[in-house]
Amino acid sequence: MKNRLRYPLGFGLCMFLLLVLAPGFSAAAGKATDPGVRPPKVTPEAERPCARWITDATPIPDAAWVKDLPEAQQKLFCAGAVKFATVDGLHEGLGPTFNFNSCKGCHDFPSTGGSSPGPYPGDGGANTNPQYAFASTQYQAGTNSIPWFVQARGPVREVRFVHADKGKPDGGVHAVFTIRGLEGNTQCSLDQPDFDAQHRKGNMIFRIPTPTFGAGLLEQIEDSTIDANLKSRQARRYGMAKNTRGFSLPIGRLNIVRVGHAHGSENRNGNDGTIARFGWKAQNKSLLVFAGEAYNVEMGISNELFQTERDETPACQFAPVPNDTSNPDRSGLAVLSDVELFAAFMRYLAPPARDAEYPHGASSGAQGEVIFDRIGCSHCHSPSMQTSMQSAVSALRDHDVALYSDLALHHMGYGLADGISQGQAGGDEFRSAPLWGLGQRAFFLHDGRTGDLVEAIRAHASPKGHGYPKSEANPVVSEYFRLSNEDQQHLLDFLRSL
Ligand code: HEC
Ligand code: HEC
Repeated sequence: MKNRLRYPLGFGLCMFLLLVLAPGFSAAAGKATDPGVRPPKVTPEAERPCARWITDATPIPDAAWVKDLPEAQQKLFCAGAVKFATVDGLHEGLGPTFNFNSCKGCHDFPSTGGSSPGPYPGDGGANTNPQYAFASTQYQAGTNSIPWFVQARGPVREVRFVHADKGKPDGGVHAVFTIRGLEGNTQCSLDQPDFDAQHRKGNMIFRIPTPTFGAGLLEQIEDSTIDANLKSRQARRYGMAKNTRGFSLPIGRLNIVRVGHAHGSENRNGNDGTIARFGWKAQNKSLLVFAGEAYNVEMGISNELFQTERDETPACQFAPVPNDTSNPDRSGLAVLSDVELFAAFMRYLAPPARDAEYPHGASSGAQGEVIFDRIGCSHCHSPSMQTSMQSAVSALRDHDVALYSDLALHHMGYGLADGISQGQAGGDEFRSAPLWGLGQRAFFLHDGRTGDLVEAIRAHASPKGHGYPKSEANPVVSEYFRLSNEDQQHLLDFLRSL
């Protein structure tokens, strides 16, 4: 990472910049711009299924589907929504190290379950970062400090270190906060990691939250569907290679964990060989596994799936371990644990709603959609897939999922590479981010480096270098920058209508 910053720009890179990026700059005159975040709409109280307890969370939206969802599942969804929004403290087992104190805190934009809160038109310029707000009100001097990368109007972030001491691979999450001084406790004196030192070594990478809208639908796409979609895209690639400017379109592979072949630090479900699909690197198999892991990693709460604490410093334990379990009631029936409730909430959570009219009318967005397909964005961001005909829940069965992802990994080059391997995903490989809900996202890309769609597209391109192959997206990015300003604008309008 450190070398990457110091590396001299080679001849190849210069040529590359000229060829790929320059047209973007020259277009700057009457240039196409990101229309910006579509302001969130407040769901009218009467339409909020869980209004009694919270919340702006809506279950799967279209009327037929809501009616389809049996009452018991709606109740489960609401119970899950409440848990998802619950703020935990020392006596629920928060910490000793943690990134935030509720799921909703990080997954809250444009509504419960979403991605990182952030600036949007009409927010009044307030602090939009809950991590920042939390740290500035709850922590007094002498306990934790607010690291520089947690900014008032920046994204929620978690940190991974690429290497451990002596250059050994690390890759794990190093929590932003500790419970030192929290709720007035004086017994736990755990320090935060020295983020400045790690930053100087170029050893830190960031991840922002991925949204969980429609996540139950993603879970129900069969492996064979993902596989067939990828194969048909690859077939199209060969077909197209002949009749455009030598255009070689993306390849991609699935994050299939083969027995004995799992590496990296997290994706340990190497035994069943099925396709993992959640997270920036498609590293996780299911919502339940993700919920268990997030509870332990993000909040420091050990649970049924992750039974031991991440930090076992004795003076810093305030609750029995695991901190949360299912609890049999008097009749011996198990009452669901928090992780099961989180998973149920995300499973029934509505997919993002589109607004075809935003921002410049339906016709611009519709033209943009055609361009999106024509220039090859859709080779990785597949417009839709179908859920299983066999799905146990009728609302999730045989449903069209407009996810704009192939759920496969792609080599994105050193510009995006974070050097972290998870499952089969290497340091430069990421899942084609599902683009549904893009209209209401304040930050883009795994590290939230930009809130501007044009920058996000530009960042897709990298030449070969620093040990990584060139980005699979290079030809598509050049096609984008060859478009007229008008066509670029149609494409950006389309993206913000999602
Ligand atoms: C500190 C902020 C933070 C908190 C708190 C948090 N998350 Fe996340 N969440 C993230 C980040 C960052 C990612 C992306 C992780 C990655 O892929 O490396 C993520 C990703 C996810 C995903 C994957 C969605 C997808 O389709 O990729 C799920 C599911 C999820 N979180 C559930 C939860 C649950 C349940 C909780 C509460 C127990 C929770 N999260 C708490 C930051 C947070
Ligand atoms: C080679 C496959 C590939 C192609 C082609 C491709 N993308 Fe992507 N896209 C990705 C991957 C992988 C990511 C996630 C990268 C990361 O976070 O580091 C991504 C992320 C994005 C994001 C950010 C989404 C988020 O959740 O933060 C946007 C916006 C986007 N792509 C738009 C486009 C557009 C528009 C095009 C066509 C001009 C395009 N992509 C072409 C693979 C591709």
